[in-house]
Amino acid sequence: CGIVAYVGHREACPLVLKGLKRLEYRGYDSAGVALLNGEGLKVYKKKGKVVDLEKELNGKELTATIGMGHTRWATHGEPNDVNAHPHYAFNRKLAIIHNGIIENYATLKENLIRKGHEFRSQTDSEVLIQFIEEIQKHTCCSLEEAVRQALQEVVGAYAIVIMSEDDPTQLIAARKGSPLVIGIGEGEFFMASDATPIIEYTKDVVYLNDYEVAVIKNGELKVTTLDNTQTTPYIQKVELELEAIEKGGFDHFMLKEIFEQPRSIADSMRGRVKADAGHLVLGGLRDYLDQLASSQRIVIVGCGTSWHAGLVAEYIFEELARIPVEVEYASEFRYRNPIIAERDVVIAISQSGETADTLAAIELAKSKGATIFGVCNVVGSSIARATHAGAYTHAGPEIGVASTKAFTAQVTVLTLMALAAAKRKGTISDTLFRQLLAELEALPAKVEKVLEGAERIKEIAYIFTYARNFIYLGRGLNFPVALEGALKLKEISYIHAEGYPAAEMKHGPIALIDEDMPVVFIATKDSSYEKVVSNIQEVKARKGRVIAIATEGETQLQNMVDFVIEIPKVHDILMPLISVIPLQLLAYYVAVMRGRNVDQPRNLAKSVTVE
Ligand code: G6P
Repeated sequence: CGIVAYVGHREACPLVLKGLKRLEYRGYDSAGVALLNGEGLKVYKKKGKVVDLEKELNGKELTATIGMGHTRWATHGEPNDVNAHPHYAFNRKLAIIHNGIIENYATLKENLIRKGHEFRSQTDSEVLIQFIEEIQKHTCCSLEEAVRQALQEVVGAYAIVIMSEDDPTQLIAARKGSPLVIGIGEGEFFMASDATPIIEYTKDVVYLNDYEVAVIKNGELKVTTLDNTQTTPYIQKVELELEAIEKGGFDHFMLKEIFEQPRSIADSMRGRVKADAGHLVLGGLRDYLDQLASSQRIVIVGCGTSWHAGLVAEYIFEELARIPVEVEYASEFRYRNPIIAERDVVIAISQSGETADTLAAIELAKSKGATIFGVCNVVGSSIARATHAGAYTHAGPEIGVASTKAFTAQVTVLTLMALAAAKRKGTISDTLFRQLLAELEALPAKVEKVLEGAERIKEIAYIFTYARNFIYLGRGLNFPVALEGALKLKEISYIHAEGYPAAEMKHGPIALIDEDMPVVFIATKDSSYEKVVSNIQEVKARKGRVIAIATEGETQLQNMVDFVIEIPKVHDILMPLISVIPLQLLAYYVAVMRGRNVDQPRNLAKSVTVE
């Protein structure tokens, strides 16, 4: 979910709505706003996107200089008008917006019902605001104190903002587990799930920490812990520029982000690589490099696309640094009492830096004494802060829900980490080290070349627009790329797609192959090329329709498969950074041709802050 709030001298409603649009990547099944003016506290909400809410607001009197809004990704209760946020307290004098899950809401709700409360929605968030209301009523304390007391009883995760009809200068916010940023302007304050709704007004922000409560009242910000100890908020400058979060002439954010990859890959190496000098520095890991290089085992955790980046890294770390690697879904790792030995290192990968499962996996690994490195895109995010050290991917904001440039930046940074560890450990020759650095520097230009072939990929996409299934096959480092290609397609086009190791196909998926089945092979000229060619023949013998991602100048495949997409030659280790690009484009064009909402596919959210 995404939350925004404002108090100051501007019109709150348009500002909040604009902010919600920026946060829509976090969830978009319903949206709402609360405004406070002379006529009291008003809540408006609507199932659907922020534009649906805007239509609903048309013609209404919305003047107010304090307000807040929410865009939802449903957890408790189906997406409808009633379950949308903000939620009123029972007396309609308080309202809340909430991102997260209150796990003990059922018990709290039962108690409240016994005390005469009634509920309008099925949400856990409405329970929280009525719980706060009940505490305030019974203890006659301030709202701020009631919030603190309530949160001490709450199990779960939250970022909340509360407004009260009794004080039109006041916003109360708190966080545990879900992000919340406070923007500080001239006589005005902003609150949001990330800095994107704030940056056009101010660059001064405070990232609220877990178990902190922020109160803005009469133009002042005060931060306390849940036990009411005052803390000094750390004000920092966000470096985000507005143009980075706008579409810049592209039809969709996803397309813009795919086309940004030459730059984002370069940015992820900026200041870190100097090939001619044989120089590689990862500043954030400098003091930890020995530990990484001498680790006995690396455990990589992540979710979704970040998990795929982890699978690529497994090959690279094992190949170059000869360190055994295990890659785990964070959601599995956290619930199975994992074995962590003294010299194990954990790498957590996350674009948003907020994924709840990944965060929980980190906390668990920490409690077992592991050293944890983060590979995050969002600077200052919860995961970046929870890890001992790390390397940012610096891909810039990724807004399309389907991850593209974040993936290539993750793989680039993980490659740099593996190279640095290998160098320190002495498992890589100087020649290979320098060769890979030089190839990395040359990579953005090669990605550019793949992108120049977008039109051809569009034509192929057109032919397969109405396919019902897709299979993606690759071997070695291209196996995780096959998984990622399939994930991209299913996420945004809703076509069922499976990724498989090419050789494993004969143990099952081959049964699916007939003349209607498109099979995408990543068949680049690497050590497993000949084997992949045999797998292609197995598919062709069963009349499957083959699209091959092949190395430039390839002749053998031209006569064997239905469509060839050529990509430039790179060292095997770097191949995923190139071979994934045509798969991103293929998924994008198929989804567009099917009329899907590419940037906001149904049921998904970009930042999943619930488990
Ligand atoms: C969500 C997104 C995916 C993403 C995954 C992990 O499911 O839709 O695109 O890969 O979360 O997110 P993270 O921010 O931790 O990389």
